Amino acid sequence: MTNQVLIQNLKNLLSETYILMLKSQNYHWNVTGSNFHALHVMFQEHYENMFQAVDELAERIRAIGAVAPGTFNQFQSLSQINSEAVQTKDREMIESLISDHKILVETAKKVVEEAQKEQDDATMDMAIERIQTHEKFIWMLQSSR
Ligand SMILES: [Fe+2]
Repeated sequence: MTNQVLIQNLKNLLSETYILMLKSQNYHWNVTGSNFHALHVMFQEHYENMFQAVDELAERIRAIGAVAPGTFNQFQSLSQINSEAVQTKDREMIESLISDHKILVETAKKVVEEAQKEQDDATMDMAIERIQTHEKFIWMLQSSR
């Protein structure tokens, strides 16, 4: 049966993705400044991607026999990312998102590591895809500074 560390790592990945989705949407709504339009659109692209990802991650957790977390309290307690998005300046929003996406990359790498031990190729593929996506988002954010 699937190891508990893998399940825990997947729950962390789901939770952090959910929190960062919410935070990206918050910034989509509240960003201001001369770069408003580009950031407004980019933040939407990011949260829409993560909206799809949380569904796939949660269903993967179900498929390997565990229960997916599904409340804000659970997501927050399973996440290293804080949903309290107090930044109001566009530059600060970008810096905050970059560090959050880096956390996601590290969490997804842990999933890859554990999935490899289990020879769980489907979970590994999913986590590798998330690494690629978050690294792409980091590049997009860094290029918007
Ligand atoms: Fe919108």
